[in-house]
Amino acid sequence: MKTKVTSSLPVALETDALVALVLDQSNSNSNGKDKKPELKVATSDGTVQSAAADLLASGEVSGKPLETNLLHKPAGLKAKRLLLISGGSAKKFSSYDLRRLAGTAVRTLKARGIRTFAFVAPPAIPADEAVRAIVEGAHVGNFDPDYYRSDRKDQKIDEVTVIAGGDTKALEKAAEEARVIGESQNFTRDLVNEPSNRMTPTILAERAKKMCSEVGLKCEVYGPDKIKEMKMGAFWSVAQGSDEPPALIVMTYEPAGAPAKPVLGLVGKGITFDTGGISIKPADGMEKMKYDMAGGATMIGAMRAVALLKPKVKVIGIVCATENMPSGKAQKPGDVQIAMSGKSIEIINTDAEGRLVLADGLYYARQLGCTHLVDAATLTGAVVVALGYANAGVFANDDDMYNRFKEANSKAGEKMWRLPLDDEYKEQIRSSIADIMNTGGRWGGAITAAMFLKEFAEDTPWIHLDIAGTAWMEDQKPWIAKGPSGIALRSLVEFVKSFA
Ligand code: BES
Ligand code: MN
Ligand code: ZN
Repeated sequence: MKTKVTSSLPVALETDALVALVLDQSNSNSNGKDKKPELKVATSDGTVQSAAADLLASGEVSGKPLETNLLHKPAGLKAKRLLLISGGSAKKFSSYDLRRLAGTAVRTLKARGIRTFAFVAPPAIPADEAVRAIVEGAHVGNFDPDYYRSDRKDQKIDEVTVIAGGDTKALEKAAEEARVIGESQNFTRDLVNEPSNRMTPTILAERAKKMCSEVGLKCEVYGPDKIKEMKMGAFWSVAQGSDEPPALIVMTYEPAGAPAKPVLGLVGKGITFDTGGISIKPADGMEKMKYDMAGGATMIGAMRAVALLKPKVKVIGIVCATENMPSGKAQKPGDVQIAMSGKSIEIINTDAEGRLVLADGLYYARQLGCTHLVDAATLTGAVVVALGYANAGVFANDDDMYNRFKEANSKAGEKMWRLPLDDEYKEQIRSSIADIMNTGGRWGGAITAAMFLKEFAEDTPWIHLDIAGTAWMEDQKPWIAKGPSGIALRSLVEFVKSFA
């Protein structure tokens, strides 16, 4: 999608569709029944206000978030159409909401065959923040997962113009950065969307390599021999059961002029299909386990964005990619494995495989000199029990690191919630035959999984993102299609930028 910024007046812009927001200026809370909403178009352009005046006065518009109204030949405007999108209460309106409205605009317009539009940035939000939110949200809305449908329409918006006042050069830069981030998020979603027969560890590694050569990153891919030679016993224990060879993908971004430290390590779970292994999963819903490589795909997409945005900080992206299959070669419950770090692991459940591949991924990142670690993984069903589909789980062994991440996360407009990592939970993964077990029983499953990873991050500042409930949209929303969400990429890119 091409992105443009203009400071011209909305009234004067020739476009297929002008999109403006309708906000409720009244003080009533949204469930205050008796209070009438005071609906106003969020723009200082009087002609746009007048063009919408009759409709807003008619009582036909509720002003509730995500409501859309389309006017043809709006009076006095050069635009062919005026799309009004309601954003709810003006008082509570934020750039988080703005992202969703931009996505809604894209999905509304592209379904009608419209290819270009202009979006009026609401004056109440700082212009650069608004430009970012609109461009990122528009990209999120532009993605559809129906690749293999013969009737795929492949409707896409080709160009979005943001109308915002201010320093045009600075706003153009904001739009450009947001485009890179939005495209990278959709690149990640492309990878996650593919089924496991079309996204094996080998194919994932090829896609990473291709991307790296396009954006100028170093990329190394190691196969079974090297994984065994490096004594990655935890990673290999998962890979050994599959006929598809595993891949350890290592992407390096080292810009000229970056300090020797910090070195950020982004480690992703890349299970291209999770059957559960010998502790096999029930058939119902198993098809969704093609998205068990979402954490890995997020790191590949994040590295793409970093390479294009060029912050002055060294970053290493690591993806541990393998299938988790049952077979005559597969590991069995009760087996003891020795991780790369030397720690011994008693396998209780072969379906707790994500933490095994990440154990070696995190340790390897430290070996490569990473001073700060972030991992992303569709790690546990338990995080979905704890937080549902709205928030990803965040874990941290270091408060400074957490605070920095939280800041990046709120700028990126993604919902995440911190969960604890107290020492008490460690008892649940104590083993009588080995150093630790790979499962911690029924209670606090997302936490005991994170406690397991903590054993391999040790004293390196580390953040763990459990995106099992958020990496896949169970239903479509007005601003986003059903399917891969690309969650965490924007927060990761903001986080990396915060070190530059
Ligand atoms: N990939 C799954 C977690 C998952 C669940 C991702 C739902 C997306 C949606 C993970 O490998 C897994 O199987 N975890 C087990 C761990 C258990 C055996 C301790 C789980 O959560 O049930
Ligand atoms: Mn599993
Ligand atoms: Zn898994």
